[in-house]
Amino acid sequence: MERAEAHEHQKMEELGQRFIHKSWLFHLADGNRTGDVRPPGAQVLMGEDPRLPPMPEQPTLIDFFKLRFSPNHQHLLQSARLARENGLPEHMILACLLHDVGVAAFIRSDHGYWGAQMIEPYVDEEVCWAVRMHQVIKFFPDEEAGYEYPQSYKVMFGEAYEPPAYVVAEYKRAREHKWYGSALAICMNDDYSFNPNLTVELEEFEDVIGRHFRQPKEGLGNDHSPSAHMWRTLRRPSNAL
Ligand SMILES: [Fe+2]
Ligand SMILES: [Fe+2]
Repeated sequence: MERAEAHEHQKMEELGQRFIHKSWLFHLADGNRTGDVRPPGAQVLMGEDPRLPPMPEQPTLIDFFKLRFSPNHQHLLQSARLARENGLPEHMILACLLHDVGVAAFIRSDHGYWGAQMIEPYVDEEVCWAVRMHQVIKFFPDEEAGYEYPQSYKVMFGEAYEPPAYVVAEYKRAREHKWYGSALAICMNDDYSFNPNLTVELEEFEDVIGRHFRQPKEGLGNDHSPSAHMWRTLRRPSNAL
């Protein structure tokens, strides 16, 4: 117990005597329903987190890629390159570039929905819809289009995995939608993009981002859009409130 307290104290010293309250979701993701207890009288971290790289005052999507997204965002870049090689239109290259932004930047569970919500104010409706729905469409092969159930899913979820009822129901609705093919295009350019020996640079897609992502001039998070708070949270994930 003393050791835990000493560790806590050292952490606070490093943070200028500020205590970090982890969001409840972070605790739950550790299987923990106890949470943390702020030492009596301690101040909490508010605002910028000194443990993370500082961000420009008016951050762009590219700043978030470089300063906040997980290293796994290489998967996004590889998917976007594949989409370009396969001749997809530019707005769909952007969709592939952002399809797993939920995983790379925010929350894994229901990643298509979270990711779509983050980008909704800044991209075409079709791009947003396709990002949201790729999550469910991914589970259902489409022989006519040449889309097979991903091999990687068999490994990750087991051969016997069955998608839950809400995924099946959402898929049935999506199958009838005019942009089904766009979400399927994400899946078809996603599946084969986990190559550890390939490094794709973000600069390759600066032009596509510039033309198809409506970057707010105030900076992502400062712009009062319906998802600005999500970008602020990504910038300052340990802001106490
Ligand atoms: Fe995905
Ligand atoms: Fe993906």
